Amino acid sequence: MTTVNAPHFVKHQKLIQWVEEIAKLTQPANIEWCDGSEEEYQRLIELMITNGTMQKLNEDTHPGSYLANSDPSDVARVETRTFICSEKAEDAGATNNWEAPAIMREKLNGLFNGCMQGRTMYIVPFSMGPLGSHIAHIGIEITDSPYVAISMRKMARMGKAVYDVLGTNGEFIPCVHSVGAPLAPSEKDVAWPCNDDKYIVHYPETREIWSFGSGYGGNALLGKKCLALRIASVMGREQGWLAEHMLILGITNPQGKKHYVAAAFPSACGKTNFAMLIPPKGYEGWKIETVGDDIAWIKPSEDGRLYAINPEAGFFGVAPGTNIKTNPNCMATLHKDVIYTNVAVSDQGEIWWEGLTKETPSNLTNWKGQPHTGTEKAAHPNARFTVSADQCPSIDAEWENPAGVPISAFIFGGRRADTIPLITEAFDWVDGVYKAATMGSETTAAAVGQQGIVRRDPFAMLPFAGYNMADYFAHWLEMGEKLQNQADHNLPKIFNVNWFRRDEKGNFVWPGFGQNMRVLEWIIDRCEGNAEAVETPMGLVPTYNDLNWQETDFSEEQFKQVTEQDMQLWLKELESHTTLFDQLGERLPKSLKHRQQTLIKAAKAV
Ligand code: OXD
Ligand code: MN
Repeated sequence: MTTVNAPHFVKHQKLIQWVEEIAKLTQPANIEWCDGSEEEYQRLIELMITNGTMQKLNEDTHPGSYLANSDPSDVARVETRTFICSEKAEDAGATNNWEAPAIMREKLNGLFNGCMQGRTMYIVPFSMGPLGSHIAHIGIEITDSPYVAISMRKMARMGKAVYDVLGTNGEFIPCVHSVGAPLAPSEKDVAWPCNDDKYIVHYPETREIWSFGSGYGGNALLGKKCLALRIASVMGREQGWLAEHMLILGITNPQGKKHYVAAAFPSACGKTNFAMLIPPKGYEGWKIETVGDDIAWIKPSEDGRLYAINPEAGFFGVAPGTNIKTNPNCMATLHKDVIYTNVAVSDQGEIWWEGLTKETPSNLTNWKGQPHTGTEKAAHPNARFTVSADQCPSIDAEWENPAGVPISAFIFGGRRADTIPLITEAFDWVDGVYKAATMGSETTAAAVGQQGIVRRDPFAMLPFAGYNMADYFAHWLEMGEKLQNQADHNLPKIFNVNWFRRDEKGNFVWPGFGQNMRVLEWIIDRCEGNAEAVETPMGLVPTYNDLNWQETDFSEEQFKQVTEQDMQLWLKELESHTTLFDQLGERLPKSLKHRQQTLIKAAKAV
């Protein structure tokens, strides 16, 4: 057996024992304890260039940046292969795939047995949240993918210093990952090893993560969706906090007054763009700053407010559609040291994806490594960039503050061609929880499966809640109730947005991107008690004149189109929520069923 040989900086006997166990099971050819150094990063990059996994991009235009192309079958999260293995099936709930832990362990033992043969096992120490802070949680990912090891260095605080925090007996979340492609002694490796059989498994009770068969970020960078959302949501419920699929941004008005908001949108619905928004013309003196683009950990504080931190250290964003107009801050973030996955590349070593420029450059090689002819997309629709957050020009000064930032408003938004208006404010906390719980959205390329189908995506957490969704709703209701009972409470207001309404020709009506600032301003004004709203059956809404239209020709007619409330469609929508509620069964909080009836009554009364 390969010896584990823990380096001197690892002093945690249980951790060393666990590594020994995993090595015995997976039988790697080599074991490497990652220290997070620049030398190690460069060495792994060089190794992947030699193996054909990565290529170096043009050093003049993309300094320090590389491109990896995945196997065409391994391009997105696999929700059907993602499991929550709690002791009881009811604790995972109807919206999660469940298997009994004992059965799953047996299955995984079989799959992991010898799965790293011929490969190097990397031990990757990481912290979600600022290193050493009281809100951070440490994970150790064992992986046989150098792509995962170097990506973790960008997405989390990764390296030797994690072991100093762990000491001899600190707590860590064990994460085991394998691409599931052992190599026979003389077998030649492929550029992107993976396995058709995939398992992304979470044991909430023992707080373990096991991932097999995929190298794609969402399935393989286990600090992100697996730890910071699925396992953290379970911890949050136990300990009285929230782990959410939310961006966090700061907004400062010309007088210097600052608010922070947290916003949940399903995958590939523009969270990164929203988090890095640049105020449009007419908003001189306003500032938007970015705390995070994907995940928020939110905790109540003594002062009666909710404080949020971004547990991540990088952005793993969707590339297609990103450009100098839609997200200039993101483009600036990408100026150096980026790992791209599944974008196209020119023969000059320049990257390209659909929407980057109007013109498609000539001499492109598509994400499958073939000459781009125009019949297929050059970049995969879920092509990604991985980059450190501290390169972002709009990064907020408080983004690493372990105390977090105080949240004034929660924003929820699905991708809906009709029914849901541009902006509505919930009547109260319960109504806000109802709206978030019943959010629908058209599916995107971020997950394997048919795209463009409306599905319920409660709180944009359908694929990420580590426990029963009905209990998750109850947890949100309880958090609100607890805060409301505090004398000096300052509960965030809850809003619903929909940037994606379409006209009869199928075109988006709302320009989106920087123009979303107009909606954000109204939200902040509502939080401060400085803006009017009209009460409707769907919630509190602005009239055309309540929004700031300086320096835009967006007309009142267009505003009507994006805010129109069709009571027939709304009633149908409300009634369709029963499908989700029935699926969740007995554990669904009664107040949500009650809210549905109240909303139906109000819609019928119009
Ligand atoms: C992501 C996702 O990668 O939500 O952030 O799929
Ligand atoms: Mn996401």
